[in-house]
Amino acid sequence: MKMEKMMKMNVLFALVLVSGLALGGCTKDDDTWNVSELANAREDQDVGGLLMVPLTLIQSAAGKGAVCMDGSLPAYHFDPGHGSGANSWLVNLEDSGLYFRGQRIYEAAMEELMSKGMRNADQAFLSGCSAGGLAVVQHCDEFHGLFPANIKVKCIADAGLFLDAVDVAGGRTLRGFYGGVVNLQGAAANLPKNCTSQMDGALCFFPENILNNIQTPLLFVNTAYDVWQIQESLAPKSADPTGYWDSCKKNYTTCDAKQIQFLQGTSSAIHITWLYLDIAFNV
Ligand SMILES: *[C@@H]1O[C@H](CO)[C@@H](O)[C@H](O)[C@H]1NC(C)=O
Ligand SMILES: *[C@@H]1O[C@H](CO)[C@@H](O)[C@H](O)[C@H]1NC(C)=O
Ligand SMILES: *[C@@H]1O[C@H](CO)[C@@H](O)[C@H](O)[C@H]1NC(C)=O
Repeated sequence: MKMEKMMKMNVLFALVLVSGLALGGCTKDDDTWNVSELANAREDQDVGGLLMVPLTLIQSAAGKGAVCMDGSLPAYHFDPGHGSGANSWLVNLEDSGLYFRGQRIYEAAMEELMSKGMRNADQAFLSGCSAGGLAVVQHCDEFHGLFPANIKVKCIADAGLFLDAVDVAGGRTLRGFYGGVVNLQGAAANLPKNCTSQMDGALCFFPENILNNIQTPLLFVNTAYDVWQIQESLAPKSADPTGYWDSCKKNYTTCDAKQIQFLQGTSSAIHITWLYLDIAFNV
């Protein structure tokens, strides 16, 4: 019953998919949708039972230096809300390299959406998956700040709980990767000040280090055995040159006892992270 009501609300929501690079996403949009058809779709065109929503390039972004790593313009899909949902907004940050020049792209996108009617929202949801989920954690309070205090604003981060985990070689692959982003892009300036004042900028990419300061209701959806994190953060090729993890990380039933023990140790780290959620999750 509750679910039915929610689905109906979703249909009524203005739906915006903000994309920092081309299409991408946890649902592998680019595999299942034909990008050139999408780009040429007319508003609300129905193709084979799918609602096709055209891509809007943010033309004003170039002048603000808010372009993607390859120089292309950021973009979004926008489907306006209807009826009682006309002023309900769902903004979804796609899984992409949004955070690389994320701040300027995010600001250019929000400015344009506000001018398209989001300033009249009576409720607004910021959502995102994977890298988009991480961007939600980083922007949730900022998004909330766009609206007057009486407007209901919530965030949902799907598979965005990237952990500062120790990999199978005892290193910290993901921390090293974020360190590179901080150095390459000077991204630290856009990370929460009260995290960067206390620890290295690279650590302030991790939700576990910034959750305590988030004031807006934020819901996480994350599996304990996050496939991407196991394959790219815990047991990447660089940490497993002999390929001992190759089979296990693709099919858990082939893991030996030692590997299971390692994964379960990591999953308890994930459970520790859930404690942080109690603090942030006050919906
Ligand atoms: C995508 O759509 C265009 C235009 O309809 C078509 O020419 C092209 O072959 C399609 N590409 C794929 C991979 O289906
Ligand atoms: C961080 O910022 C939040 C919100 O501005 C504030 O409530 C909190 O006390 C700050 N935390 C620290 C450790 O400064
Ligand atoms: C996973 O490995 C088991 C045991 O070797 C095998 O029976 C199963 O088919 C594999 N599953 C997949 C999806 O490959």
